[in-house]
Parts: sequence; structure tokens; C-alpha cells
Amino acid sequence: MIEFVLNNQPIQTESPAFLPLLDFIRYEQRLTGAKAACREGDCGACLALEGRLENGQMHYQSIASCLMPLGNAQGKHIVTIEGLNRKGLSPVQQGIVDHSATQCGFCTPGIIVALTALCLSEEPLTEQRAMAALDGNLCRCTGYQSLKQAVLSVLSKLPAEQAARPIPWLIDKGYLPVYFSGITEQVAQIPRCAPAFHPGRPILGGGTDLLAQQPDQLRTAEPSLLCERWELSGIYLEGNSCTIGSGLTMAEILRNPDLNRLLPGLEEYGRLIASTPIRNMGTLGGNLANASPIADLVIIFLALDTTVLLNGPHGRRELPLDGFYLGYKKTDMRPDEYLEGIRFELPSPGHIFNFEKVSKRARLDIASVNTAIGLELKSGAITLARISAGGVSPVPLFLRRTSEFLKGKLISDKVLAGASQLIQEEISPISDIRGSAEYKRLLLRQLFYAHFLKHFPEQLSLKGLLNEGRKLDEKHRLERTRKGAIHFPG
Ligand SMILES: Cc1cc2nc3c(=O)[nH]c(=O)nc-3n(C[C@H](O)[C@H](O)[C@H](O)COP(=O)(O)OP(=O)(O)OC[C@H]3O[C@@H](n4cnc5c(N)ncnc54)[C@H](O)[C@@H]3O)c2cc1C
Ligand code: FES
Ligand code: FES
Repeated sequence: MIEFVLNNQPIQTESPAFLPLLDFIRYEQRLTGAKAACREGDCGACLALEGRLENGQMHYQSIASCLMPLGNAQGKHIVTIEGLNRKGLSPVQQGIVDHSATQCGFCTPGIIVALTALCLSEEPLTEQRAMAALDGNLCRCTGYQSLKQAVLSVLSKLPAEQAARPIPWLIDKGYLPVYFSGITEQVAQIPRCAPAFHPGRPILGGGTDLLAQQPDQLRTAEPSLLCERWELSGIYLEGNSCTIGSGLTMAEILRNPDLNRLLPGLEEYGRLIASTPIRNMGTLGGNLANASPIADLVIIFLALDTTVLLNGPHGRRELPLDGFYLGYKKTDMRPDEYLEGIRFELPSPGHIFNFEKVSKRARLDIASVNTAIGLELKSGAITLARISAGGVSPVPLFLRRTSEFLKGKLISDKVLAGASQLIQEEISPISDIRGSAEYKRLLLRQLFYAHFLKHFPEQLSLKGLLNEGRKLDEKHRLERTRKGAIHFPG
């Protein structure tokens, strides 16, 4: 039995846990405001709000209901566009009307939900954050200018600090219907998701990969629900190490203040990953276990000395993340194990971290090539380098030889051009829809240079790096010719 509150209605259902929430909403509850369009998390037409009760308070975020398994709604408040209806238009709906930001209206429910999630957001509101609230929504008709104006008008009416716009304030000002005031009590009476690991059953994280890839095969399957196991949903800084539970969502990790202190810019880099609703759902465990060669969190954590924590009927195991991937989409996790989380040593003060990603679209797209670097220096010399790269081999790659090569070196155009040539020997990209093998080689070279140009602009220039690269190419060409000349007959 799955129990939750849908808008202002208590729900108890025996429908399967892997059923997409969207199908439950549309076909079992006959609430047709959320649209079934891409069903792959790409368009935002199906967005709903997910409310969780934590420490006596409701916290809301947008989710893509097409990819949310019904089982993950247990103990939550799910709000569809119908659940935002009240007498008259809300300020969000009024903003859309005032700026003619709707035409056919197909995308509009999702856009209203995304902007209402912005009003409920616990982050201080900025223009950048407000615009990013729509990074998971596509609109084929209006052009984005009118939507942009609608967002700005919504933003202009909201106090920036969350403390100044608590849920009672949002109800009073007409952003939310009145029934929201009784939701905390309703949700508090429902048991939370009961964490259970059953070896052999598919393990469910946020469902953003599972439901995008195999919705039909899974429809009647019983999942292992690991959500809300306490050890899987926290970030623990103990002594010299940081442990992150596998059940944390990408959003929780990317905006965590401790992690942003250790890895400056993490939240900003996170905007390159998926979209707001997908980051709100997808977990660290799913990102790691999915074993995609371009998984962004994996690439980020490979640049730290990360250990993977596994558990199962035979006890716990720890493996280095850079040995975890055995081949394309293949990990060293046994069928009866699950991922508890990861652990890494805290970077030293002064540690430099950088992440770069190029994809076909700037937002809501997986990488053609991505790379991260962790770097420490003493008196100008590199004492530690860890470079990772995705999209250039069957597995997310730790560039071991290049990282070793850099140790003890001073940063210069020549050293980095040499390192970049070594990278080319370590990688084996293939041509696919995200680019040709040559293009990916070129991309990784440029992104590797970008790590350093961003952090050492006074010591380096792109022109200098490319010049040194050309000189090295010429030297290698001559060496090859010389070797060839020795064996040349006659
Ligand atoms: C529109 C869209 C855009 C995306 N963009 C990006 C992107 O830019 N970058 C990126 O890296 N990814 C992206 N993804 C992929 C996906 O969202 C992430 O990989 C996400 O982290 C997957 O997590 P999940 O919890 O949703 O995984 P699920 O779908 O729940 O699970 C994925 C796999 O991991 C297994 N699994 C989950 N948790 C565990 C665990 N604790 N132990 C063992 N196995 C487990 C599942 O059994 C399954 O095999 C995108 C997906 C979509 C739909
Ligand atoms: S239908 Fe497109 S994101 Fe769900
Ligand atoms: S108004 Fe038609 S898709 Fe947005």
C-alpha cells in the first residue's frame, strides 16, 4: 500500500511502486493538467510539486512526474496544477497572463508549477535562480522572452529571503490555496517510506534513469526501496573525511554548504547537470550505479580520492571509485549488494577544484565530454593532481598517468601541453551522436586547458598552450620520421 496526499486528498493505493506518478495522476485520478509529452524528463509538461515533512515543516520542490515512481510518493504531499487552483489567479498565473507568456497552453501547467516551486524555494531569490527555475521546461510557442518577463514580474513581488515568505504568507498573498495550511498535520499522520533492501529486486533511487529507460519492463516489478535509510541520506564530516549517503539527490549534494566550502563553485557547476526537477529527484547512488561514462557526479568525485561504500548480505565492502567501473555500464558491485555511499578525504586548505562540461545544449543535456580536476600546489609546484574525464572511454576515467606526470612540475604552457599529449594516449573516445572521436579528443584538450586558464590566467595563455602543443607535435613528427627513416628500405 502506498500512502500520500495528492493536492488536498489522502491517497491509499495498491498500484505498483514503479508506476510513473504521472500515469497515476492522469489515468487513475483523472487529473489531466499535468501533460504526458516526452516522458523522458526533458520537457517539464508533467511537473508536479513534491512536499516532504522534515523537522515539523513542509519543504517543496518541483519533480518530473513522468519519471517519478509512485513508490517514491510515500508519505509525501504531491501537488498538481489542479492543486494550485484557488478563486482567481495566483500572482504566478497573473504574471503569465500579463506578459502573454502562454499560447497553446500545453507547457503552461508545468511552467506554473515550476514558478510556484520557485516561490516555495528555501534559497534566497536572485534573478539567476529565478530563471534557472524554468531550466526543465520547454515551450514551443511563446518564445522565451515573454516567459522571461513573466518570471521577472513574479520575482519582483517576492521577498528575497525565505523567512519573509513562509507558507502562511504565500497562502495569504494568494500564491497557494488555503488547504496548504492543514497539510503538515495530514502528512504527519502517514508513515514515511519503509526502507527495505531485497537482493535480486531492482534498486530504486530517484527513478530518473530507470523510468526513462525501462518503464514498461519495470511496471509491475517490486523495487528495493532504499529511500530514507538514514545512513544513505546524509553528508557527514568526521575527522579528515567526508561521507555522502547514496540516497541524497543531486540537488542536495550540489547546494550543500559544507561541500561548496570544500569544492568552491560546486553549486554553479551543478547548473550544467540535468535540470532543476531532475536534480531534485536523481540520486548519487543512481548516478554511480548507472555506470554511464559521462555521469557528472562520478566525474566530480573521481577528481577526489573517493572510496565507494557497498553493503549486502555478506557485509560491507569498500572499493576505490577509480577501480569501480569494469567496462561499459559494468561495475564491480555484486548483484546482492547496494551502494551505501562514498567517502573521500577532505581536501587540504588551498585545494583547487574545477569542473568543465560541454554538451550539445547548454542546459538539460548530458555531456559530450566532461572533466574535473583537483589540484594542490606548494611554492608554485604541483604536489597533487587528480584529473578525471568522461565521454572519452567506455568508463568514467581517472587520468592516472597524466595526473602522475603533473606531480612536482611548475605550471607552464610547456608542461601543460605535454600533459595534454599524455591525455590523448590515455583516452579512447568513439564517434557517436555526441560527436566524432576527433572532436571529443579536441574537446578534452580544450577543457583540460580551461581548468588551468581559469585558475592561473596570469601564468598561461591559450595561444601559448597551443604553440607549445604545435612544437611538441612537430617534435614527435620528426621523431617518427627519423624512426621510419631507419627502417626505410634502401
Ligand atoms: C532529462 C535527463 C537529464 C539528465 N541529465 C544528466 C546530466 O546532465 N548528468 C548526469 O550525470 N546525469 C544526467 N541524467 C541521468 C540521471 O538523472 C542521473 O544519473 C541520476 O543521478 C540517476 O539517479 P536516480 O536516483 O534517478 O537513478 P535510478 O533511475 O533510480 O537508478 C539508476 C540505476 O542505479 C541503480 N541504483 C540506484 N540507487 C542505487 C543504490 N543505492 N545502490 C545500488 N544501485 C542503485 C538502479 O537500480 C538503476 O540501475 C539525466 C537524466 C534525465 C532523465
Ligand atoms: S513528460 Fe516531458 S518531462 Fe515529463
Ligand atoms: S504555449 Fe505552447 S508550448 Fe508553450
